[in-house]
Amino acid sequence: MKKLLLSAAIMAISASALAQTTIKYSHVVANDTPKGQSALKFKELLEERSNGEFLVEVFPNSQLYNDDKVLEALLLGDVQIAAPSVSKLNRLTKKLQLFDLPFLFKDMDAVTCFQESDAGQELLHSIDGKGLMGLGYIHNGLKQFSASVPVRVPADVDGKKFRIMSSDVLAAQYQAVNAIPVKKPFSEVFTLLQTKAIDGQESPWSNTFSQKFYEVQPYITVSNHGLLDYMVITSNEFWGSLSEEDQKMVSEAMSEAIAYGNDLAAEINERDRKTIAESGRSEIIELTPEERQQWVDAMRPVWAQFEEEIGAELISTAEACNK
Ligand code: SIN
Repeated sequence: MKKLLLSAAIMAISASALAQTTIKYSHVVANDTPKGQSALKFKELLEERSNGEFLVEVFPNSQLYNDDKVLEALLLGDVQIAAPSVSKLNRLTKKLQLFDLPFLFKDMDAVTCFQESDAGQELLHSIDGKGLMGLGYIHNGLKQFSASVPVRVPADVDGKKFRIMSSDVLAAQYQAVNAIPVKKPFSEVFTLLQTKAIDGQESPWSNTFSQKFYEVQPYITVSNHGLLDYMVITSNEFWGSLSEEDQKMVSEAMSEAIAYGNDLAAEINERDRKTIAESGRSEIIELTPEERQQWVDAMRPVWAQFEEEIGAELISTAEACNK
């Protein structure tokens, strides 16, 4: 009798293990960042609500893939969810270059306004049909320059090498101020800065802090010149393998996790700005309105370079969110 009960229990455990769906969620930043927190919230919500039907494994800090490799991994079914920066998805749809235009969004409210608009939602689905689909946008924040020299005006970066994500708009942005853009994966930035292979980089405070860039960059300029936001994506194949009921459960958990991360984003960036300032490792340079205007004047012509690929109407819709 005991033997019978034991085998029944073993069979029940194996059946439930067989029915379990594992979702690997790969990203490149630390857990204590807006995206990291959103990913962990997704794990918590989905595992709890599915009563163990889903197991979510979150791989932060490029542990599994960097953003240049993760799309391939999604298509191959090696991971099920990723959240690359929108800048790294430009190669799928040129219209996504919009998000990289320098000085496009005045603040994160303007970004939210655009992402929630019909045009923003259409852009979210602009990658659909390429084997991938967008599940939502996650905020990080506006970017600041950090450098090995004090940076106040465009002339200060003349001939300096800045790491950028794989985006032609970002390359053009640095060329517009006679700096040298260097496209490199996020996971390599700290070492490139530490060894002085490059002179600077651009990130929101949360990445500059969590990746310790500020420990090897003596100057940070409060430029707010561009945006770092993400698109949560999955593959059509994975999505199609889920029942309608499961798709609903995953979508709902994801929407709540995104809202959670987005609500935290400003707070995390402000906390990290303060910690960097208090550390005394980097001098934080505030620009005068005249200095900032020099950057706007130098970088704004980049818009015209990409207007045809992005679409003038889309740019105007985004600009209209700067209330
Ligand atoms: C990220 O925040 O996911 C990485 C951004 C970068 O590559 O600079």
